[in-house]
This record gives sequence, structure tokens and C-alpha cells, in this order.
Amino acid sequence: MSDHSAEKSLFLGSFIHSKSLDELEYLHDSAVFVDEKGTIVAIETGYDLTKAEKMLFPKLGWSAEDVTIKTAKAGQFFFPGFIDTHIHASQYPNAGIFGKTTLLDWLNTYTFPMESSLSVQSKAKTVYTRCIQRTLSNGTTTASYYATISVPSTNLLADLCLQYGQRAFIGRCCMDTLSPDFYRDESPATALADTRATISHIASIDPTHTLITPIITPRFAPSCSSELMHGLGALQKETNLPVQTHIAENPKEIALVKSLFPEHESYTHVYDNHGLLGPKTILAHAVHLSEAEVDLIKEREGKISHCPASNSAITSGTAKIRWLLNKGVEVGLGTDMSGGYSPSILEAVRQASLVSRHVAMGGEEEAKLSIEEVLYLGTKGGAKVVGLGDKIGSFGVGMEWDAQLIGLGSVDGEMGFSDEGPVDIFGWENWEERVAKWVYNGDDRNTLAVWVKGRLVHERKV
Ligand code: GUN
Ligand code: FE
Repeated sequence: MSDHSAEKSLFLGSFIHSKSLDELEYLHDSAVFVDEKGTIVAIETGYDLTKAEKMLFPKLGWSAEDVTIKTAKAGQFFFPGFIDTHIHASQYPNAGIFGKTTLLDWLNTYTFPMESSLSVQSKAKTVYTRCIQRTLSNGTTTASYYATISVPSTNLLADLCLQYGQRAFIGRCCMDTLSPDFYRDESPATALADTRATISHIASIDPTHTLITPIITPRFAPSCSSELMHGLGALQKETNLPVQTHIAENPKEIALVKSLFPEHESYTHVYDNHGLLGPKTILAHAVHLSEAEVDLIKEREGKISHCPASNSAITSGTAKIRWLLNKGVEVGLGTDMSGGYSPSILEAVRQASLVSRHVAMGGEEEAKLSIEEVLYLGTKGGAKVVGLGDKIGSFGVGMEWDAQLIGLGSVDGEMGFSDEGPVDIFGWENWEERVAKWVYNGDDRNTLAVWVKGRLVHERKV
């Protein structure tokens, strides 16, 4: 396990989190008690430190000397860590590079060469280390990662997530057909054996999956043979592990799936008929699904990762998130870096808001998502998508302390606060307005500290 274990901690100040899709709860003057395992053991509003020491510490069996206290200053607040439900760690060096391509030529031009180059361990180590540090510094406490087809490099990503303390799902990417000769699985059998090798490796470093979990990863239907997908479906049944893949991202991709799998009713049916659509399946994009497909996903309790920055960058389309939510499907956010240009979920939150406005401008007024809704998608919604809704994504007794401390003072010095408190003409905003300013103007400079399972995994050096 990791070498830095968590200590008993007491967090004091303002806490903001999603209660439901359209409601943020603001807990001011509050205290959150986190034990050495990283579990929240008590939440008190209206705290008084002397009272905590005299009353709650003894009640919890704590003595004051063993407790690390972290206080949010005026204008700062604790927020749940972000959950990136779809990100390609192996594409990190390409973030921002996509030109005018769309999905299929983007894959051939930029993506396959970059991913293939990460079979070199030294390069994989550099890229994955930077990706983890960069996403942690942007408040991503949980990531569902695609790695590459290389088993040693994929296993290294798992090792590094454990070392740096990021909660992660690690997918060894499967692709045995319609892929370049320099970057493809030799056969369905080798792809399955390689997937099992990564599953075994993760079992050896984190046997109970406290932090790291393998995820079965058929790249997408066009790059997987039917035999491979049947094999991966059977593996899911055997292991009950989660599955991640892409779906209905781009019209040419959908036409390709139709031509490759003419006997299946739809793209969604292709996954369903291979045993790959279930409650533990994360489907990235879902931009162009039919109503019947959404109904099938809902029936199977499949989950959707909305990747708005990516869908705009490589012009895939505008996903209809209000429609999916109204249908009762669970939705989270993904950066989809480097289809998406940014490793930041805060950027995905912002882009989810803007894309919903584009859908609204197309005539569906109710499509617009509120600040509360997009922040829900980036936290509590994402937690449900990765199957950890009872553990992370919001604050509650019995849940784990995956959190970020947000300070608004450092966006060009104009977000309203200095270390001493409110400054002159700024700082007049109410809390809802502060959160709105963070969503639309914030970045990693506002992420002052980040914890996963109680362990401090990032601290901003001013
Ligand atoms: N479809 C298949 N592979 C990929 C990928 O790497 N990124 C995105 N956005 N879509 C894909
Ligand atoms: Fe992707």
C-alpha cells in the first residue's frame, strides 16, 4: 500500500456539496471529522473548537494531540473531489492538439502513434506521472483511465496512481481489428490474456481495490472483433469488474459500426449482445443515441460519461444531457483528454453548461443546465457512474474524505479574498455567486489542497 497513511483530521469552515441534481448544500461554520482510514466519522454544524476537543474528541475516542486540524479561511470552502469518468492517460502529451480532425482521422493522425510510443517504459513513466500530478492539482480525486495495449505500461499507471494516492480505474485497452499494424492486439486470445495480466497485477498491489480497480476496456466496437467482445463480456461475468468503452460519438463511427455489425439492431445492441452492457458499464460520449438505445441503456442500468470539451473540439456533436437525465440514466463528466483539450473536470463542468446552452439555442429551452446541475455531474453524478455513490462524491458520515479546498483569491487576484479576508470591492458576492464565479472563471490556482481517502495528495504552492 501507499507509504503515506492518513492521520486523524478535523476540517473546519465552509463545506459545499450536492444534495441532489439541482441542489447544492452550504454548510458554514461546520466541522468534519475524518479518521485515520480516511472515513468521515462525524459532521457538526456550528462548531466550537473547545467544544470539539472537550466533547467530540472523547466521544470518538480521539485525543487532541493526534488530530491534524485544517481550517478553511474566509471565502474558502471544501468541495468534494472531482470524478473524471473518462480520460486517456496515454494521450496526455497530445492535449490541445487536434487541428480540424474528426474522430476517425484524429485517431489515426494523433492518437494511435502517441499511444503506441508509450510501450517504452521510461516515456510511459514520465507521461503518466505528469498526468496524475496535473489531474490531482485540478482536483480530480478519482479517474477512470484508459492506458494503452501495453501491459507493463498499463501496470505502471496503476502503480503510479497508488503511489500518488489517486483513486483510479485502470483499463488496459483492447483493440484487435481495424487498427494499425504497429498498434493492435495480435488476436482475441492475446487481448484477453493481457487484460487478465493487468487484473492480476492490480490484485497484487491493491487486493481489496481500496484505491485501484481494473476496468475491462474494449476500445470501441469498430476496433474489436466479435470474438474479443464475447470474451470480454464473459470476463466481466466471471469477475464482476466494471467495463468502459465509447459509444455513438460521431456519425461516421456509427455508420462504420452499422456496416461491421449489420445483424445487430443498433450500436447499443452490439455491446448488449456481447454481454458488455450492464450496471457497471461506463459509456463515453453517447452523443447520437436513438430513444430505443437510451431505453435499453436505462433497462440495463448502464452509465454515461458526458465529455463536452471533447465533443466540441473534435466536432462530434452536442449530447442531449437533459434528455438523458429525464430518461433516468445516470450521467457523469469526462475530460476525454486528449479528444478533450483539457485535463480539468472544472473545464468539463463549464463546457457542460455551455453545450447545454447550445442545445437550448437549438430550440430546447429546458436543455439548459444550471450551476448546481453541472457540479452534480462532476461529483455526485460521477461517483454513481463509477459505482462509488455511497463512498465519494459528497460529504456524509460513513463516506470517504475525497475533497478539495477551494480558495477564490487567486484568479487574477480578483475573486474577492486575500489571506486576511474580503478585499475592498470584491467579496460582496453571496455564496451562490462565488460558486458561479469559480465555475466560469476558476482553474487549478483555486485548488489549494486535495485529499483522497483522508490523505493529502496535493497542496498548492502559492
Ligand atoms: N473512440 C475510440 N477510441 C477513442 C479515443 O481514444 N478517444 C475518443 N474520444 N473516442 C474514441
Ligand atoms: Fe475517449
